[in-house]
Amino acid sequence: MGSQAVTVKRLSDTVAPALRPFLPKDTPMLARIYRASIEQLAAEDYSHGQIEAWVSLADDEAAFGERLGQSLTLIATLNGLPAGFISLKGPDHIDMLYVAPGVARQGVGSFLLDAIEKIAGARGATRLSVDASDTASPFFEHHLYLVERRNTVPVNDEWLGNTTLYRFLTTSQPVPDPSAPNGPLH
Ligand SMILES: CC(C)(COP(=O)(O)OP(=O)(O)OC[C@H]1O[C@@H](n2cnc3c(N)ncnc32)[C@H](O)[C@@H]1OP(=O)(O)O)[C@@H](O)C(=O)NCCC(=O)NCCS
Repeated sequence: MGSQAVTVKRLSDTVAPALRPFLPKDTPMLARIYRASIEQLAAEDYSHGQIEAWVSLADDEAAFGERLGQSLTLIATLNGLPAGFISLKGPDHIDMLYVAPGVARQGVGSFLLDAIEKIAGARGATRLSVDASDTASPFFEHHLYLVERRNTVPVNDEWLGNTTLYRFLTTSQPVPDPSAPNGPLH
């Protein structure tokens, strides 16, 4: 896979995103996407100290990889390079969703959310929830998630605000196969 994340400016300049499952060897690349995504996409919504505390959760890459591996983690690729990832903790909670800043607002987040919703729905979940950052809340509201409550959570020495949102699922859509190259979503 190499060590390079995508830097294309528009999805229309490249092929459609593909989906594949997380492997432990992806951990360093996903940690890089995680850090860059927070530092570049969330900087307007949180203070410098809050950003540093949030980013530091990937400092221990072994623990970060364990967190990814304990969830259902899917990676979106563009031209074979990771462009973002999403993880589902348990049957019905979205733990992480991070998109490489170079391809933000190009549909990668929506692609990943759609895939995880279909898989969770096919496994029997009727409702998904997420504790969304202030950066991501408008994204989830765009996808018809409803606000449940506001939270303030301790992260190292900082307190970060987030919002719990939820959405009821319908199960009538086809389920993507993340192990199939350029699977049925494409
Ligand atoms: C939230 C995030 C995953 C969205 O990914 P994305 O690939 O940029 O999202 P999409 O391109 O699929 O966006 C779809 C729609 O959601 C809404 N949306 C997405 N990001 C938005 C933002 N920052 N502000 C307002 N609306 C937003 C828009 O309606 C957008 O459609 P448009 O671009 O045509 O206006 C991405 O911004 C990110 O990684 N953020 C930083 C990390 C983070 O906060 N993760 C969430 C932790 S729970």
